Amino acid sequence: MKVKKAVIPAAGLGTRVLPASKSVPKEMLPIVDKPAIQYIVEEAVASGIEDILIITNRGKSIMEDHFDRSPELEQRLYQSGKQQLYEEMVAISHLANIQYVRQKETKGLGHAVACAKSFVGDEPFAVLYGDDVIIGEIPATRQLCDAYEKYQKGVVGIQYVPTEQIGKYCTLAVEPIEPKIFAVSDMIEKPKPEQIISNYAILGRCVLPPDIFSLLENLPAGAGGEIQLTDAMRLVAQREGMIGVVYDSKRYDMGNKLGILQATIEVGVRHPEIGKEFQEYLKEFVKTLG
Ligand code: UTP
Repeated sequence: MKVKKAVIPAAGLGTRVLPASKSVPKEMLPIVDKPAIQYIVEEAVASGIEDILIITNRGKSIMEDHFDRSPELEQRLYQSGKQQLYEEMVAISHLANIQYVRQKETKGLGHAVACAKSFVGDEPFAVLYGDDVIIGEIPATRQLCDAYEKYQKGVVGIQYVPTEQIGKYCTLAVEPIEPKIFAVSDMIEKPKPEQIISNYAILGRCVLPPDIFSLLENLPAGAGGEIQLTDAMRLVAQREGMIGVVYDSKRYDMGNKLGILQATIEVGVRHPEIGKEFQEYLKEFVKTLG
């Protein structure tokens, strides 16, 4: 079965990037000139996704405005001859069929995904974490959907994480089956040092079977007192196995200050309009560092 739907949870509190995220959702923080969530929607569309549900909450309606038409702005750009910018602005509102649902209480990623139950229905669906921008030649979600379609099992996007950092993520029990593809039989969210199974962790993307919803409904709160998506995926991994795909793209964590700076610099130096100038600036600036 082809994966045609995607869910983007974007209702978190973003406490690691306060005060920037106090009134602006972290998913709307820009990388150079585009908000994080637009990169993510573009990745979903480039991966063949047709319908997208963004999970929002109070105070996040600017995400809806971003993907809507903006008649005054468009008219001004058109009348002042800024044709390319005009077309770009109109295109944002035609990127995909985007719907929104509010997560009424911030109870964790698993709880946010559970809000997508009626949107998803009885199909497999992709989850793109709203603060993880992943940039690469082949979209990461496409790589995961290909694996889902090949193995007909839930798929997680994974990366190797150094031991000292893995406690912030999760740890997976993996067995290689193809280059960069693993069978996943277990996982632990936010492992303590003695719980680390491997240095592979789920980062930013997964493709899930619809029966994840019945698992999420009965799940007790896990690490940090939140309903953890990993705890529901663990049950799937233990029951029927999942597939781990080491995606070939660069991930930027927009939920963390360093990630935002890395994204700005790396996307900035490649930017078609200001990339060259920014590189010159950076080369000079680096000389001033001790
Ligand atoms: P995070 O784990 O980064 O959570 O969420 P957070 O609460 O936003 O961040 P901190 O720890 O307070 O800084 C991963 C993704 O899941 C969404 C977030 O918006 C983010 O895109 N999320 C998280 C929800 O939609 N709802 C939640 O209850 C929690």
